[in-house]
Amino acid sequence: MMPVRRDLRFALPPERACDWHQQGSHVTHFFNALSLLFPAGERFFMDSVRNYRDRIHDPVLKKQVLGFIGQEAMHTREHIEYNDLLQNAGLPAHKLDRRLAMFLNLNRKMPKSFQLAMTVALEHYTAMLAGLLLEDDTRVGGSVEGYAQMWTWHALEETEHKAVSFDVWNTVVKPGLGRYLLRTGTMLTVTLVFWLIVFDYHVRLLIADRKRGGHLRGMGRVVKFLYGPRHGVFPGIAMEWLRFFKPSYHPWDHDNRAQLTRIDGLVAAVDSANAANPAALKASRRGVRAVA
Ligand SMILES: [Fe+2]
Ligand SMILES: [Fe+2]
Repeated sequence: MMPVRRDLRFALPPERACDWHQQGSHVTHFFNALSLLFPAGERFFMDSVRNYRDRIHDPVLKKQVLGFIGQEAMHTREHIEYNDLLQNAGLPAHKLDRRLAMFLNLNRKMPKSFQLAMTVALEHYTAMLAGLLLEDDTRVGGSVEGYAQMWTWHALEETEHKAVSFDVWNTVVKPGLGRYLLRTGTMLTVTLVFWLIVFDYHVRLLIADRKRGGHLRGMGRVVKFLYGPRHGVFPGIAMEWLRFFKPSYHPWDHDNRAQLTRIDGLVAAVDSANAANPAALKASRRGVRAVA
């Protein structure tokens, strides 16, 4: 699997930044909370892999690392603009982004192997959530087009490069019990911290947007979206999360590459939407510039 850098732009209607999801503003803010994690988070991922670039000699893996960095750089750029729209809508997006960056900067003082283990664990998270989004049409189906396209694009590319940091890990860290314990122990820590931050950011966005109202029904939808037995996020990723603890685990054990056949169609749809309505793309950029 060779990750390809795709330079895509999305028309995100600024006035829908707080309620673009088909299931309303409370579920929208769950995705928005995730979006706030990407700029600082993905820079951390890129740097933790770059730390080991000199030790990767296999030409295929070298190319995959370049593709991985290229994709994450595009995701960072697009989520910075997305988050600017949230800031423009009166949400504390910049403050929360800076807070995460400060926290991750503390982690940059930790051993490089720990930083890479964090990336491997968090890439497993992005791959699990991406897989769920791609396989279950209730995740972003029926939502405002630009936002749904952007999340689908991100999910497809996370799937495409899901094994890269793991293959770097297996190449540069000495095999054995120590490697297994570092990988799985880091996953346990990451799981706790990741969901605490997502929960905290989600609540802060909901509080900042509290004037919108409809909280009882909105929270009911969030609970169903996250915990519902049929389509809930947590039941949906539970088995995949457990699989990470198998000593022989590899990200492609869950072979969902069939989803990737959607990429070309999505790129064509985004390009034609932008060509048909350049004003929508400009409006999205104007929203960003209003903050800058
Ligand atoms: Fe990404
Ligand atoms: Fe990623």
